[in-house]
Amino acid sequence: MTDSAQEFFQLRRRPFDKDVPDEALWLDPDRTDAIDRLVDAVRSRQHALVLGEPGVGKNCVVRGLRARLSPVHFRLTYVAHVSLGKRDFYKQICLALGVECKLMPATLYAAIQNNLAALARDHVHPVIVLDEAHLIPDSSLGTLHVLANFQWDSEPVVSLVLVGLPELGERLKLGVHRSLLTRIGHRIEITPATPEQTAAYVTRRVEDAGGRVALFAPDALVVLHELTGGVLRSVDVLADASLRVAAHQKKKLVDRGVVRAAFPLTPLA
Ligand SMILES: Nc1ncnc2c1ncn2[C@@H]1O[C@H](COP(=O)(O)OP(=O)(O)OP(=O)(O)O)[C@@H](O)[C@H]1O
Ligand SMILES: [Mg+2]
Repeated sequence: MTDSAQEFFQLRRRPFDKDVPDEALWLDPDRTDAIDRLVDAVRSRQHALVLGEPGVGKNCVVRGLRARLSPVHFRLTYVAHVSLGKRDFYKQICLALGVECKLMPATLYAAIQNNLAALARDHVHPVIVLDEAHLIPDSSLGTLHVLANFQWDSEPVVSLVLVGLPELGERLKLGVHRSLLTRIGHRIEITPATPEQTAAYVTRRVEDAGGRVALFAPDALVVLHELTGGVLRSVDVLADASLRVAAHQKKKLVDRGVVRAAFPLTPLA
């Protein structure tokens, strides 16, 4: 749906919407490096932990991973609803894997294990992404090493990718979860953008929506960074509000005055 700013700036789409097509992902060297490390982790059939503050771009990095994996050799399954008790948590995993859900935990684990082992026989390596993994209750997290540990640790038949807020890393260091932690080979941290990265990000997204490269003045990009701390989801919110304010003021260039005027109109203020 178009809005007044999109019309005013004659954009193909709203540049800061959250549904970024895969080919339009902004992949700077840091994010490319994170994706490379994830690809290496799953190629060597290991587990990985992806940590970062809300909105820094963890899911976009995982999408980068998905785009890099050949569907012939890998099957990436995404599990979003992890904040559930053990039974429902494993139901989600069954659903994601297309395994019939059994009632008893023992047969449930066996059903999942058989499914994963069958994929392994077909030389397809399953990758299970557990998003918002900091929300996994202890009771479910405490059983994950069962998944991570199939075939007595000899040949992992699945790579788990746990994605979550930094506190997940701390939680895994606690006594009860250490056996899971010791099985995870890679810790990948996604950090907020630097000022230069924020500028490159905004420019990329504007360009991708068919806008002029210099739609945001350099001083506007500096203020955008200062007010958002380089958290990309917040950059989206403030940049979007700035476009609307500029359109309202009939200004073709977003300068720092526009960004400052837009700030109180966002929940970031
Ligand atoms: N590499 C990227 N390319 C393009 N847009 C991005 C990128 N990374 C983040 N974004 C933008 O920032 C928003 C938030 O990113 P994402 O959902 O990946 O963050 P997250 O770290 O998973 O957040 P949360 O912790 O809240 O789940 C996205 O909707 C997208 O608009
Ligand atoms: Mg996310």
